[in-house]
Amino acid sequence: MPTKLLFEDNTYDCNQNESVLDALIGHGVPVPHSCRSGSCQTCLMRATKGTPPESAQKGLKETLKAQNYFLACSCHPQEDMEIALPDADAGRFKATVKTVETLSHDIVCLGLHCEQPVDYRAGQFINLFKDSTLGRSYSLASVPTRDTHLKLHVRKVPEGRVSGWIHHQLKPGDSVEISQPIGNCFYVSGNPEQGLLLIGTGSGLAPLYGIALDAITQGHTGPIRLYHGSRNIEGLYLTEELRALAKQHPNFSYTPCISNTEFVAQEGYATGRALDVALADINGLSGWRIFLCGNPDMVKSAKKKAFLSGAAIKDIYADAFTLAAA
Ligand SMILES: Cc1cc2nc3c(=O)[nH]c(=O)nc-3n(C[C@H](O)[C@H](O)[C@H](O)COP(=O)(O)OP(=O)(O)OC[C@H]3O[C@@H](n4cnc5c(N)ncnc54)[C@H](O)[C@@H]3O)c2cc1C
Ligand code: FES
Repeated sequence: MPTKLLFEDNTYDCNQNESVLDALIGHGVPVPHSCRSGSCQTCLMRATKGTPPESAQKGLKETLKAQNYFLACSCHPQEDMEIALPDADAGRFKATVKTVETLSHDIVCLGLHCEQPVDYRAGQFINLFKDSTLGRSYSLASVPTRDTHLKLHVRKVPEGRVSGWIHHQLKPGDSVEISQPIGNCFYVSGNPEQGLLLIGTGSGLAPLYGIALDAITQGHTGPIRLYHGSRNIEGLYLTEELRALAKQHPNFSYTPCISNTEFVAQEGYATGRALDVALADINGLSGWRIFLCGNPDMVKSAKKKAFLSGAAIKDIYADAFTLAAA
């Protein structure tokens, strides 16, 4: 028997094995969502009557769990529920666009200022909402102790609804809505001599840039090795800044990697996929802390290879930039 969902004065059936998100979308109700796999939290909703299953609250802050918030894409209700979109105070903030700076032909750095202080760690991500039904996740490249505002690196996706809006319409002074910071892909001090390996593709550099700066700022003494991969040189960005950082901090190294097989080797660039270059450079990953961000296929394969090369599962932190379905 289907369970009933009461949402904004209408009742919808939710079939067995169907998520709340699928049920609402199936009935033509527009609710925000993106990854559909429980990681981005754009589909956050609240049960105003009925109890969401524990599995639908995975990754949420305790304060949100206590208020019956849940992720619609992971919620398979066991009972009838009355549900609502998040309250204005459910960790959403108004932010003002400060800067939109070009980093490469398809990446801009969006600077956002929030009136209220945002408690975040470099490398976490926020959800940025174009309107009440459309939000996407973007990682934080800024470091709270160094930067006066939040910084995101946004790659323009062809026909992308949110990235296109950010690239072509947002301008300094505009007001936007963002979520509170989410995720556990960030640097924690406490083992300053441990090797840190950071591998990213495309705008996956954003969280890694923040994490590397954060580790340096917090006095990390072990090697910090950043590998940024792209098909061609045009896809890389912040190259000069990262080379300068490596000169200033001998324990930090930066290797831009070009994966196009037709690439003719050039000084300053490694040839091959970032993951393969990193694994060839470092002799075994036992004892290393690994951060992997960007293309979901790369992240999946890198997690497996890092583990097989000796890294402990607890030392692997990853954010796959999973795209919304068409
Ligand atoms: C945890 C997390 C962190 C993220 N951090 C960042 C970040 O720091 N920077 C960043 O730029 N992005 C990041 N993303 C991705 C981001 O959330 C969006 O998915 C991305 O910006 C595209 O959204 P859009 O609305 O512009 O495109 P959509 O409107 O969702 O996509 C338009 C269409 O294009 C398709 N499509 C999208 N991308 C591609 C592609 N590469 N190739 C082929 N087809 C495609 C989609 O499936 C869809 O059909 C992150 C994602 C996650 C889950
Ligand atoms: S967590 Fe539900 S859509 Fe991403």
